Amino acid sequence: MTQDSSTSGKGAGKKQPDVRRVRALIVFLVGLLVLLGGAGAYVWSLRTGGSEDGAQQAGKGAVQVGGPFELVDHKGRTRTEADFAGQHMLTYFGYTYCPDVCPTSLSVMTQALDLLEEQAPEIAEKIVPVFVTVDPERDDVAALASYAEHFHPRMVALTGGPEQVAAAAKAYRVYYRKVEDESAGDYLMDHSSFIYLMGPDGLYVSHFMHNATAQEIADGLKARIES
Ligand code: NI
Repeated sequence: MTQDSSTSGKGAGKKQPDVRRVRALIVFLVGLLVLLGGAGAYVWSLRTGGSEDGAQQAGKGAVQVGGPFELVDHKGRTRTEADFAGQHMLTYFGYTYCPDVCPTSLSVMTQALDLLEEQAPEIAEKIVPVFVTVDPERDDVAALASYAEHFHPRMVALTGGPEQVAAAAKAYRVYYRKVEDESAGDYLMDHSSFIYLMGPDGLYVSHFMHNATAQEIADGLKARIES
């Protein structure tokens, strides 16, 4: 005997197909979750290089930031990535006409190194603060020389031809764009503003946001550089 239409009145005819449909749906959803979970775990392992705590701790070189460059420093000397081998570059891209973000970032970088020189001088001496202009049109060697005086005494400020600067920015995944500013009667540069910590092998180690405090940067440097 079937319970179907004969005995249980109106609702029964619909009830059984509903249960089957719900079961099928549950089986489908569980399958989907398993698939998504597997895919998610796979993507996560790719992104973190297998480590547990994300981009800031990704294995050396796991993030494609940095690479060869050929630029000119604020004393007029040609500089390439080879000149910094064995040292940690703390690198920031910006421009000397920047009204606020760049000078603040470079001041905080300078303060972070000052703190480190007091707290862990053996680490501080392994770090070279580097400023790369994204505005080579106005930032020539002389402009960088006077700008560098406001910041850390060991800071290396770099410029070059437009193609050389573009190549360096591309290697560091730095975005920049000229923006006409009518009120100033001149142009501004829109640009990304990460502070990159590079390893003695020239590979990416970590980065700081431009609004990090000096102590946060100093602590980050202490955590990531062996004394
Ligand atoms: Ni800026």
